[in-house]
Amino acid sequence: MKNSLKAILAITAASFAVMATAAMPAYLDESLDIDTRVKDALSRMTVPEKIAVIHAQSKFSSRGVPRLGIPDLWCTDGPHGIRPEVLWDEWEQAGATNDSCVAFPALTCLAATWNPDMALLYGKSIGEEARYRNKSVLLGPGVNIYRTPLNGRNFEYMGEDPFLAGRMVVSYIKGVQSNGVAACVKHFALNNQERDRNTVNVSVDDRTLYEIYLPAFKAAVKDGGAWSIMPGYNRYDGSFACENRRLLTDILKNDWKFDGAAISDWGAVHNTENVASNGLDMEFGSWTNGLNWGASNSYNDYYLADPYLKLINEGKLPMSDLDDKVRRVLRLIMRTAMNRNRPFGSLNSEDHYAAARRIGTEGIVLLKNNGNLLPVADNIRKILVVGENAIKMMTVGGGSSSLKVQREILPLDGIRRAAAGRGISVDYERGYVGDTTGEYNGVTTGQDLSEPRTASQLIADAVAKAREADMVIFVGGLNKSPKQDSEGDDRNDFALPYHQNELIDALLDANSNTVIVNLTGNAYSMPWLDKARAIVQAWYIGSESGDAIADVLFGDVNPSGKLPFTFAKALTDYAPHSYGDSLIYPGSNGDVVYKEGLGIGYRHTDRLNRRRVNFAFGHGLSYTDFKIGDPTQSPDGDGYIVTVPVSNTGSREGAEVIQAYVSDSKSSVSRPLKELKAFGKINLKPGESGNVTLTLGKEAFAFFNPASKLWTVEPGTFEILIGNASDAIKKKIKIIQVSQVQLADFRL
Ligand code: BGC
Repeated sequence: MKNSLKAILAITAASFAVMATAAMPAYLDESLDIDTRVKDALSRMTVPEKIAVIHAQSKFSSRGVPRLGIPDLWCTDGPHGIRPEVLWDEWEQAGATNDSCVAFPALTCLAATWNPDMALLYGKSIGEEARYRNKSVLLGPGVNIYRTPLNGRNFEYMGEDPFLAGRMVVSYIKGVQSNGVAACVKHFALNNQERDRNTVNVSVDDRTLYEIYLPAFKAAVKDGGAWSIMPGYNRYDGSFACENRRLLTDILKNDWKFDGAAISDWGAVHNTENVASNGLDMEFGSWTNGLNWGASNSYNDYYLADPYLKLINEGKLPMSDLDDKVRRVLRLIMRTAMNRNRPFGSLNSEDHYAAARRIGTEGIVLLKNNGNLLPVADNIRKILVVGENAIKMMTVGGGSSSLKVQREILPLDGIRRAAAGRGISVDYERGYVGDTTGEYNGVTTGQDLSEPRTASQLIADAVAKAREADMVIFVGGLNKSPKQDSEGDDRNDFALPYHQNELIDALLDANSNTVIVNLTGNAYSMPWLDKARAIVQAWYIGSESGDAIADVLFGDVNPSGKLPFTFAKALTDYAPHSYGDSLIYPGSNGDVVYKEGLGIGYRHTDRLNRRRVNFAFGHGLSYTDFKIGDPTQSPDGDGYIVTVPVSNTGSREGAEVIQAYVSDSKSSVSRPLKELKAFGKINLKPGESGNVTLTLGKEAFAFFNPASKLWTVEPGTFEILIGNASDAIKKKIKIIQVSQVQLADFRL
């Protein structure tokens, strides 16, 4: 090419570049701060365009502003994997062939790791899957507190303790959002039961609200920086969560300074004026139940669509509220779909399977292990596996968290694989029939679980083989069918279903080397507890379930999970069920009163006789032994740093979770006997020692004073109780607080 021609081309290219730069509107210029860009975009939008971005246009998307090149926003469930594609306006499958995902462990399992690094890994990995599938909002994680073991949706949440859930949710959110995908924290707030979830009206005193039900959401917003949040279906103090001014405007937006978007649960909006004025930003799923039915193509009739436009045009509702919503939606789009610098993501990568397996094994809780029945000993040659959950795919079902997976390793297959490598033979017996269906919204497992034998025949057949085996591994629990661990309703009772107690009893009689492995997202009664030598709580682990379970049973991984909620003896040992009053649960005439107040989980059972608890909050065994040494304390700002020496005194590498609970023996208000305020996990080789460093700020000693609305630390003596379970306190430190402190900036 001649030099003169080159020069002309160079000049032309340069002037195009200058023109392009000069012509680029501010809202597209990523070098500007987001609020400047949002302001510019908003100033260019017509009122109908503003209305269009604040409500759904399909089951899972809302419209952008095509005229301005602002893209649509796509949401997806959440929270354990990326939901398969559904039709534009149906809950049924779109029939896509590129929408199978990795199923990560259920959030109860994640919480049981007590390891924020696992939450970060989880969030990063699931965020990558969402990004690859081009979703901008992940509908999760959920942090509703475990109030009753009957709640069908507990498996999607992070347990009974606000501090544990708060620590874990922050890392999950950071991981997800590092992909330019928004986390949508749900279900804000007080959505603690599925039964009557669309109507139930919760009354709770302010102290309980602030100390139990809000902290994990507050942590998600203030420490996690969540870009969106999902108000739930229920009512609080007479108003639906999506229309609740106190929750959405006063607390979330004014006190916590949330700058993201409040996205309604699917079908949780009921009235235009209320929803327009009280702080909700986006409406989804109206006239559907969020699960399987709903009116089609009614998007213009949404409460925040034509009816809102009409009231705005008539001057009956202010433009300022609409602009605030649009600003938040634009901010959400700019943080996600319009972020040109976000990574590309990946789907079904080996890294994601590895993450799922690692989190799964780290979350499995060894509840009991008398005589070191586990890990499987070298002299075991013949194992009998019993139970439907050993062969049932558990990633399909349960409601909106149902997935279409690329692979799911079943417990029996994982056990078989690990056993084969050790020259152990494995036989299988069904033992009980639970639910043979395997379908959710058109995704089928393809498994034929039909079984002609009667319940008693199944038990007899399992027992006959159990007598001949060196070891029996029972794999049962609940499943994702309605009225089990499933959205839309609660469990009917606390017992394991499908004659499992009879079966377990018979197996324990037939073979004392019987290990009980339960897959659930909830606690359950254990009438056979005294007879059982080894019990493993294995949750729903997702794609890598079988391998993760085998890793722990065969000792390739030393268990280090700790319970994120209390396994009490009977339902009535949970405070909401102790009154025998339907107003407290499940509700009377639409009302539920949280009369038990702060008495959730261990905060209640700590006051009961120890024998009322089968396995305490924070409990979990290891194949090695740890010794907790004398802790030391030093001042840190207005709080303390506590250093706890830990030694591995056993013969295997393993990890221990050091837990610090604060106890205020004398207070002007009644306080729980102790409350978790710090924890840390440490991995040690045999014979190795290390330190766990725990930070307890002033807020660790405070209670919420409803009169002043300030967190208050009273003068007096506090104790920091240090142990490796809520019922295994090994060391105590005394702290003297000289004067009263009101924590102004910890206001809410
Ligand atoms: C659930 C939400 C879910 C939404 C969309 C609702 O039924 O309560 O958690 O994100 O549906 O599937």
